[in-house]
Amino acid sequence: MKFFADTAEIGEIVGLAELGLVDGVTTNPSLILKSGRDIIEVTREICSLVSGPVSAEVVSLKADEMIAEGRKLAEIAGNIAVKVPLTWDGLKACKTLTTDGLMVNVTLCFSANQALLAAKAGATFVSPFIGRLDDINLDGMELIADIRTIYDNYGFETQILAASARTVNHISQSALIGADVVTAPPSVLRKLVDHVLTDKGLEGFLKDWKKTGQKIL
Ligand code: G3P
Repeated sequence: MKFFADTAEIGEIVGLAELGLVDGVTTNPSLILKSGRDIIEVTREICSLVSGPVSAEVVSLKADEMIAEGRKLAEIAGNIAVKVPLTWDGLKACKTLTTDGLMVNVTLCFSANQALLAAKAGATFVSPFIGRLDDINLDGMELIADIRTIYDNYGFETQILAASARTVNHISQSALIGADVVTAPPSVLRKLVDHVLTDKGLEGFLKDWKKTGQKIL
């Protein structure tokens, strides 16, 4: 399973990359706003740090304009995945941009039928938003499982990019279901290491080690 960092904060990306935790990066207009940076500049900097796909999102609503924005974003670096919304215009843009040979991430996916359309449009990635479905008392994980089944039934190659992952359980459940990629904020990725029994066990071992009076170095 690939891990993408859902952030446009350079410091966070560098920190996670040192742990081998950044197979790619996803951004969106809200994350660009949070970074306080110019979209082209910050995306270029991210692409220079990460060799995997870096998603950069278009902001127009009409297909022609999305295509123009997507082509401009793709000029930033060879590892850009153009992110388009799951609308008819977004799907049209997806079809054209993938025909251009670009990677496309179809985002804001909230149903299995939408994911089916993204695959039919040739998307490289589809981004179902787990957390936002949970927010309205639906089951985000059920959607990931449904899309996995549908894509496997027909051999669609579009990669399932589990997005809006807010908890470590979202990540382990996505892995169990077989999502190809999960994207999560750095704070959630860092929590993956935590376990109370690891901390307790380490404390016990170090206490006993002290009693031996030995040194390794
Ligand atoms: O990857 C999509 C993500 O940025 C949305 O997350 O937490 O705003 O639903 P969230």
